[in-house]
Amino acid sequence: MNCDVLSKFRELYQIDPSHYAKSPGRVDLMGSHTDYNHGFVVTMPINLEIECAFTTNDSGVISLYSCNIDTTVKIDAKTGEMIEGDDWGKYPSAVAKVLIDEGHELTAFSGAFCSSIPIGSGLSSSAALEATVMAILAETSQLKIDKLNMSLLSQKAENVYVGVNCGILDQYSVIFGERHKAIKLDCRELSHEQVSWPKDIMVAICNTNKPRQLHGSEYDDRRAQCEQAVEVFAKIDSKIEKLRDVSIEFFHEHKDKLSPEASKRAQFIIEENNRTHELEEALSTNDKAKLKDVFARSYAGARDLFEISNDAMEHMYTAMSTATGVVASRQAGAGFGGCMVSLIYKNQLEEFKSSVFDKYKELTGIECEIYGVRTADGTNVEAVLESKTH
Ligand code: GLA
Repeated sequence: MNCDVLSKFRELYQIDPSHYAKSPGRVDLMGSHTDYNHGFVVTMPINLEIECAFTTNDSGVISLYSCNIDTTVKIDAKTGEMIEGDDWGKYPSAVAKVLIDEGHELTAFSGAFCSSIPIGSGLSSSAALEATVMAILAETSQLKIDKLNMSLLSQKAENVYVGVNCGILDQYSVIFGERHKAIKLDCRELSHEQVSWPKDIMVAICNTNKPRQLHGSEYDDRRAQCEQAVEVFAKIDSKIEKLRDVSIEFFHEHKDKLSPEASKRAQFIIEENNRTHELEEALSTNDKAKLKDVFARSYAGARDLFEISNDAMEHMYTAMSTATGVVASRQAGAGFGGCMVSLIYKNQLEEFKSSVFDKYKELTGIECEIYGVRTADGTNVEAVLESKTH
């Protein structure tokens, strides 16, 4: 969706916005479900973004309009409670509550939001909304919160008040994003380094148009099964705190002590974590055969061991991996539908798009969406200059 949030703001509130905030979505290129196992993820902020034009108000009520959903949400700035609105308001309300819990006094604002991130499709639409609201409240309320704390507080908002037990990947990726940089995030140390990027390759995201639902028990089940494996392994080696600490050799030596399910989940996480290093290496040497292989092994593991694929994803994988211009393809986000990701030759985006679209439609009858994306800057707020408002 392309919409001019500055004009929308003026139309709604009959004044000029003082500030403009923006946050990218993210796509993970390797490291599915490794974040809550304290592993690594290769991730990238993308130019599918959420934008907001805003200005403070003195009513004590945070008023947020969404161009995508065409509704206004109202939140009490003293309590963080939603006074009026619908489902999407739970994210800004959660952020306000977490900041209030931290002892901050919030200054209310009025804002107009617009997002080009497909909602609930595995590209961090909720983390982008949380991060945008947090950055806005930090600006309006003069709070000094560094990027790491913003990431942790946004994750807390999602865990405690939205009720989704996610890891740190989404919030960290959208807040720390930097244009021209894909990063390898260390989810234990909460630090990252830039990965090198081949000049002839870009990222394409293919939306199965089967929305993913993280509220289902599947995500929590996967987390619990990983924890069961850790519990067993920690009895053998007390230094093991998370699956990050388990080598593949140790796993094979002791896997018979796990339930069949926990064994499959743990094998996937340990191998997937190792693949983040393999991907980093393959990107730095621009080894296309290796890129294809490491992505293919990631998808096979997601399907057969972690079991987060479904029919739509399987058909999309077929369409992507046989398409013109493709280098490598795999799942993205939590799985269970939503978006998948390919590395493709930069000069073949259009050919890639039309061949994936046609094949997926032939296989499923569904018309999918394909986005050629580039890296984008992380969540930021800037003053709106006079000249920009008219
Ligand atoms: C969702 C969660 C993240 C992460 C991914 C899977 O996006 O919000 O924390 O676990 O799934 O890698």
